[in-house]
Amino acid sequence: MTPLISVNRLCKSFPGVRALHDVQFELVAGEVHALMGENGAGKSTLMKILAGVYTRDSGEMLYDGKPVDFTSPREAQALGIGIIHQELQLMNHLSVAQNMFIGREPRKGFGVFLDEDKLNAQAREILARMHVNLDPRTIVGTLTVASQQMVEIAKALSFDSRVLIMDEPTSALNDAEIAELFRIIRQLKERGVGIIYISHKMDELKQISDRVTVMRDGEYVATVPTADTTVSAVIGMMVGRTLANTAPYEGTQSTGEIALEVKHLNAGPLVRDVSFSLHKGEILGFAGLMGAGRTEVARAVFGADPIESGEIFVRGVKANIKRPSDAVAHSIGYLSEDRKRFGLATSMDVESNIVMSNLGKFLSLRVFLRRMQIRKRAAHFISLLAIRTPSPTQPVRLLSGGNQQKIVIAKWLERDCDVLFFDEPTRGIDVGAKSEIYKLLRALAAQGKAIVMISSELPEILRMSDRVVVMCEGRITGELSASEATQESIMHLATQRESLKAA
Ligand SMILES: Nc1ncnc2c1ncn2[C@@H]1O[C@H](COP(=O)(O)OP(=O)(O)OP(=O)(O)O)[C@@H](O)[C@H]1O
Ligand SMILES: [Mg+2]
Repeated sequence: MTPLISVNRLCKSFPGVRALHDVQFELVAGEVHALMGENGAGKSTLMKILAGVYTRDSGEMLYDGKPVDFTSPREAQALGIGIIHQELQLMNHLSVAQNMFIGREPRKGFGVFLDEDKLNAQAREILARMHVNLDPRTIVGTLTVASQQMVEIAKALSFDSRVLIMDEPTSALNDAEIAELFRIIRQLKERGVGIIYISHKMDELKQISDRVTVMRDGEYVATVPTADTTVSAVIGMMVGRTLANTAPYEGTQSTGEIALEVKHLNAGPLVRDVSFSLHKGEILGFAGLMGAGRTEVARAVFGADPIESGEIFVRGVKANIKRPSDAVAHSIGYLSEDRKRFGLATSMDVESNIVMSNLGKFLSLRVFLRRMQIRKRAAHFISLLAIRTPSPTQPVRLLSGGNQQKIVIAKWLERDCDVLFFDEPTRGIDVGAKSEIYKLLRALAAQGKAIVMISSELPEILRMSDRVVVMCEGRITGELSASEATQESIMHLATQRESLKAA
């Protein structure tokens, strides 16, 4: 059988970075081919070449057995290669339907007017096929990241592609949404579509893929049938060494002294009468399903969203937090789940982003010294978090997705807050770097920092949390000690719907 896509000896360099070197890859019709590798391994770059976003420096690329040279994404799309990008590429001010059919909207009146009804109907049909409950007229900028990701997927599906590239499609989806996506993938597979699947969630590998190709440092490592390999073998190939398996919970370092206390907080429908306390040296896990209100609690405490009622005490003193700068003044930091919108100045360079939230510290220094100090701090975090960048002056937007996330973490660490909210801190981060981040959170707690860790990954919650607060529909439905917290006890609390209880 002629492969749908085959590439050989592919090379691609960016200034100062050898992103791909002698890479080979093959995709056949009807397979789900997982592409694995650490942050910065070159996965997205390879996919962007297949999708016509970048051109290769050298090497061979065959589509249906014939040599091809795409000069634009449109060309690749016309031949049936669709891509769901890692970085969402939606227009925030346009509606769901407009985003899905941008540039190919149905027209009426001799092509002069946009056929709004037809547009929405077409979009509605695709969303319904996906079992996604979204009004096609909703403005995309008002949607959650998860819904935006669903729109991106719907858009890719609307092209009827023969090849569909999914670059971390599930990073912001909850379990039900992931199950829905997998159902769609299996359907596409049956129709003979070839799917390339990129993810850092190792358990998805076994669930969905037929073959897996591993890349490391821009080079091809191996391709194996998924059934013939194990997750730890794949990890071994990715990092070139074996990693310790998920370590168990390590025990608390808390002194019991209260760092933050939240009393009867109300802020919109997803923060209802929320009360909790956070101790120095503690990691408090916030568990719950996507949309349970965990992010909203963090945003309200941080002053990013208005509070209707309730009180916040920092180290026993009542704090009046109206905006994020008030929170920062109280030494509260919030590492947002939506790094793009709230976390980074992507056109600025790596070192400026790292020191940005703490620039004041450097301002008293003479210009030359300031440069030196900033560079030193940046170098510290680049090595601490193993950030892959050719230099500290590289614009952040040119880094791989996972490395951008590490910059957000570095930025908040540099700020040295006493209370830190980490919202999905390991989303999009490779397995090796994940355990580094866990170590780092433990080290911060050992220094006496108080940490709230919001996470949708239960293994992460169970491994890291000294206590677990569980939310459902804007309310705290329970609190568990580390010894009480299990997959079952958390899921039980996470699904305790107020609306069902009343019925
Ligand atoms: N447009 C660009 N300009 C300069 N360097 C780039 C550009 N795009 C990617 N790179 C670099 O190429 C390397 C590979 O990046 P790529 O985005 O392909 O990694 P990835 O495997 O997708 O990682 P992640 O898992 O973090 O998404 C990285 O070192 C990255 O910084
Ligand atoms: Mg990538």
